[in-house]
Amino acid sequence: MAQLNIAVIVGSLRKDSFNRQLATGLARLAPPDVKFTQLRIDDLPLYNQDDDGQQAASVVRLKGEIKAAQGVLFVTAEYNRSIPGVLKNAIDHASRPYGQSAWAGKPAGVIGASVGAIGTAMSQQHLRNVLAYLDMPTLGQPEGFIHAKDGLFDADGSIGAASREFLRAWVTKYVDWVKKHN
Ligand code: FNR
Repeated sequence: MAQLNIAVIVGSLRKDSFNRQLATGLARLAPPDVKFTQLRIDDLPLYNQDDDGQQAASVVRLKGEIKAAQGVLFVTAEYNRSIPGVLKNAIDHASRPYGQSAWAGKPAGVIGASVGAIGTAMSQQHLRNVLAYLDMPTLGQPEGFIHAKDGLFDADGSIGAASREFLRAWVTKYVDWVKKHN
């Protein structure tokens, strides 16, 4: 198969986001025939159904990027035991207009890091519910509930030694999942 393109959506806009670092580190651990591209969601307007007939340029761009990808990897923070509003906003935008969702059929991966001990487990569970409705086949195992603590990342932004093999196995499993669904 030609090179796989996987779109990555990070559920945090924070400049020093652990989840953005996790997304970057995961891509470095992936097999070489896969390209991961982090998509912008910080320039999307707030979703308003009145705009479905004339979606903003940023929304059209996001939908095109998702459609062009063979899979979508969600790397998300947990806000108040659910997914951050910015992530839900992006998901809602690209699911519309009705019948023209960009998500349908795209094999998804879900992972996340938080400073809390449960490592985004609740956020991921809520996200899985949304992805099921969007008809995205989502990798079930292994789960990745990452506790953001010292040593998770090396100075160069790669995944630190303690988590490296776990996350290498995780991303390899996800890439296999994407291949299976393409
Ligand atoms: C949080 N945080 C948090 N952590 C957690 O484990 N469970 C939670 O429910 C919440 N809730 C929450 C709400 C809001 C509004 C904020 C700003 C933060 C803490 C969160 O894990 C921490 O801010 C992470 O650094 C967020 O991820 P990024 O931005 O580093 O990727």
